[in-house]
Amino acid sequence: MNFKVTLSLFLAISLVNCDPQLDIPNVQTTDESKEKNGIKVLVLPNSYTNDKFDDQPKSDSNNNRFDSDRSQRYGPPYSSNENDEYPQNIRDNERLRYGDPNSNRDNFKFPQNDFNERSQQSYPVNNNNNNNEQRYGNVEPRYRYENNQRNGYNVNEQYDDRYGNNFNSNYGFVNNQNYNYNNNYNDYQNLYDIENEKRIRLETEKLRQLLIEIDKKHSSECTLNVAAQWNFETNVNEATQLEALTAQQRYSDFMRYIFDQTKSIDQNYIFDEKLYRQLKLLKSAGPAALPADQLDRYNRIINDMLTIYNGATICAYEQPFQCSLRLQPHLRDIMVKSRDWDELTWVWTEWRRKAGKPMRDLFEQLVDLTNDAAKYNNFSNAADYFSSQFDSPNFRYEMENVWQEILPLYELIHAYVRRKLREFYGPDKINRNAPLPAHILGNMYAQTWNILDLTIPYPGRTYLDVTPTMRAQGYNPLIMFQIAEEFFVSMNMSAMPPEFWAHSILEEPVDRPILCQPSAWDFCNGIDYRIKMCTDVTHKDFITVHHELAHIQYFLNYRNNPKIFRDGSNPGFHDAIGDAITLSLTPKHLQGLGLIQKSVDDTAHDINFLFTLAMDKVVFLPYALALEQWRYDIYTKKIRKEQFNCHWWLLREQYGGIKPPVLRSEFDFDPGAKYHIPANVPYMK
Ligand SMILES: *[C@@H]1O[C@H](CO)[C@@H](O)[C@H](O)[C@H]1NC(C)=O
Ligand SMILES: *[C@@H]1O[C@H](CO)[C@@H](O)[C@H](O)[C@H]1NC(C)=O
Ligand SMILES: *[C@@H]1O[C@H](CO)[C@@H](O)[C@H](O)[C@H]1NC(C)=O
Repeated sequence: MNFKVTLSLFLAISLVNCDPQLDIPNVQTTDESKEKNGIKVLVLPNSYTNDKFDDQPKSDSNNNRFDSDRSQRYGPPYSSNENDEYPQNIRDNERLRYGDPNSNRDNFKFPQNDFNERSQQSYPVNNNNNNNEQRYGNVEPRYRYENNQRNGYNVNEQYDDRYGNNFNSNYGFVNNQNYNYNNNYNDYQNLYDIENEKRIRLETEKLRQLLIEIDKKHSSECTLNVAAQWNFETNVNEATQLEALTAQQRYSDFMRYIFDQTKSIDQNYIFDEKLYRQLKLLKSAGPAALPADQLDRYNRIINDMLTIYNGATICAYEQPFQCSLRLQPHLRDIMVKSRDWDELTWVWTEWRRKAGKPMRDLFEQLVDLTNDAAKYNNFSNAADYFSSQFDSPNFRYEMENVWQEILPLYELIHAYVRRKLREFYGPDKINRNAPLPAHILGNMYAQTWNILDLTIPYPGRTYLDVTPTMRAQGYNPLIMFQIAEEFFVSMNMSAMPPEFWAHSILEEPVDRPILCQPSAWDFCNGIDYRIKMCTDVTHKDFITVHHELAHIQYFLNYRNNPKIFRDGSNPGFHDAIGDAITLSLTPKHLQGLGLIQKSVDDTAHDINFLFTLAMDKVVFLPYALALEQWRYDIYTKKIRKEQFNCHWWLLREQYGGIKPPVLRSEFDFDPGAKYHIPANVPYMK
């Protein structure tokens, strides 16, 4: 059957038959109780936002459930494919069978029933080989499989010439076992292998055509969906929300269809590494691979947990009648500003009692479902799932190693801050040898430390905030974007395309409500790239502008790849680019822009600047590491329910030297008080 016919049939059927699996945030209504029951999770492709460390989405002020960045919107980015982590033995066996004349030679076929039929038809794209080459031929080496997880598949130059004319090394039919085996065979066998290899080339070509077809459809489906989400986020009303919901459902159905179409193609017989990876990614269904009833439970549990988290309010310290303090903005502000030990203890403890503790049982159920989803994606557990995205079989070990490299710096910072806090709170509160109490570091989770007032090494030598100068010099949002663009162009990167300037929303519109969370958008058509940001003329937003533009730079640079490759090469990559770029917005750079007049070229200013960065970036690492290692330990069943909270504090102390301000027990569930746990989104990126 024709691919497109199948597709539209499928879409038509699924729109009627499928239970909606999609969860969409409610537009704010005045009826609050109704709203709390209607909490939904929106999955939104191709929109990158800046606030990956935000405690909670900014748009929460509207009570809309928008996550703070793309992979959060996607939900757990489960990767696809078979047990890829330690595949060596299986793969090699299969490879031997393929080369062995006594084994089943018909092994090599794509089990897809209608695959041959479909791929034999000619597709328009076919006619232009150059075009294909352009789209598929220029994939950067980063798409290669470089480590031992796929040893047998690497294009290994040393073998290339031995294949002589029978092989086009482009196809990547290179495998040393295969080769060695063949080498020992007689002429007949060589002839047979040549035949077989011809067949493989033919099948590979068919697969290539299928993927080209999928790619075109994938891009256009993506464009439709992204456009609908854009219309909603930049013009929030019932009509645009409904359209966004419909578009999202359609896109999910499409991706599910692709999953069903590709899941049974046996990747063991694909030797072209680009095709292999495309297929691997297409086969990634995440939780959607769960059977309908389990998927429904999965979504409901997450929604229930988010209801607890988002609905949590506490009473103000010693003001039992003022009881509607939310994390944002109230508790966040108290954590940043208050230096009252007892008030901070109260807020810290109460937030965990209200936001974390009640979801303990739900979380336990969610762990099992998440592991089930992993198994449906052919992973042994969800920890393997999550970490597979990083294309490393030793991801946990590598994280640990990187942390060991940073640890000496962290220990210095930790010791310095402890001394400063001891001076401020007194030796009875801060022991010179003990871990730091989590509640006095200026953040609800101690994930960044906002206590510069107590700790800045050279008080008075900071030019950290150039907001007043920006305003005095007449900066506006457009100018901020133009200056940031120049910054990229000065490094030989792209200027923004005209469509960017024509369609982006750089300021909050006055005539309609929008979701202000800054985000960068790829409309999946190679032309349309936008930013949506309610830019204020502030130093902070100036940095964010650079961060968002870095996403667009990345979009522009991978725009000629197949759709499935148009994403960060791993979950950390997109934001890492923006973060790396913004590290360059040094006092010196600001001076170059004329935003700092006085000389800042001395050690005091340097140290202050670096210290400020460290209090944001370096101290965040042990938090993120502990959180994800904690979850991994639970997914792998190393830690059971009776140790959930204890293990959390063990890891917080082990990595960060942080302890709770008051005694905790297994009646508590402190990790749950952090958004990423109830939302079940990965944190390692
Ligand atoms: C998982 O493995 C089974 C058995 O090998 C296979 O039938 C199924 O298609 C695989 N699923 C995916 C998503 O790769
Ligand atoms: C906002 O959405 C409404 C409903 O679809 C539409 O009538 C209106 O023109 C939109 N406004 C803008 C500025 O796009
Ligand atoms: C600037 O980028 C172009 C390609 O975008 C490249 O050809 C050129 O060599 C680069 N120039 C420098 C100075 O790096």
